[in-house]
Amino acid sequence: MSAARLAVGLDIGGSGIKAAVVDVEAGELAAERVRIPTPEGGKPDEVVLVASAVVAKVVLSGPTPTVDTVGVGFPAVVHHGVTTTAANVHEDWIGAPARDMLTAAVERPCVLANDADVAGLAEVRFGAGRDVSGVVVVTTLGTGIGSALFVDGVLVPNTEFGHLELDGEDAESRAADSAREREDLSWKDWAKRLQRYYSQLELLLQPDLIIVGGGVSKKHDKFLPLLELGTTIVPAELRNEAGIIGAAVMAAESDTKDQT
Ligand code: BGC
Repeated sequence: MSAARLAVGLDIGGSGIKAAVVDVEAGELAAERVRIPTPEGGKPDEVVLVASAVVAKVVLSGPTPTVDTVGVGFPAVVHHGVTTTAANVHEDWIGAPARDMLTAAVERPCVLANDADVAGLAEVRFGAGRDVSGVVVVTTLGTGIGSALFVDGVLVPNTEFGHLELDGEDAESRAADSAREREDLSWKDWAKRLQRYYSQLELLLQPDLIIVGGGVSKKHDKFLPLLELGTTIVPAELRNEAGIIGAAVMAAESDTKDQT
């Protein structure tokens, strides 16, 4: 039996920075994850410093990664390593050379992508979207709404469907889980907004499958059965760990490319 391929996945979020060594063939954590709260304000320099501390802790506590590159998910549009939007993060991230900053701080090569894109990658490889061909949309309902679009398993990056217009507003400000909490909406009232949101996604993309992730997806029985769509809509399977696992898979794949 060959040794497992192990890579570090790092998930930078608004409230926590989490990482773990991941078995990228099995699609599961190879050791316990490490989490440190995101520094207040979330400025790039401070976040990068904490991120490097999280990675150092993960690497020191073993097992030793076999892939040198670290994969990182971040809640913004990422173009060639540069973060170009800041919907729910500090505005200093706009135009920040985030990948290079992380690479310097972590002292390992880093690859960087949108948080929903990496979480979606994990779902499509190992979770609710495995073996599904055609068009698959993964959405994450949290502080914002993240989206990831796959065509026959291949990612179309940075789709940002959380910012479609809904009821004349930015969709995530009406339909994210944070809107449910902020406005103290009942599951039924929140589901009415989700109905309008997912109907629009369905109309625009005609997907074969919609996957719903984010922390609230563990309570999917409270809202998914209330939705009436022509498309199959299912909860994510990897939940909290999807971001870490997907980031590690991306790192392993970029490493392979480097070697060829
Ligand atoms: C951001 C996306 C991100 C999503 C989930 C949105 O506000 O624009 O880039 O994927 O939140 O974190």
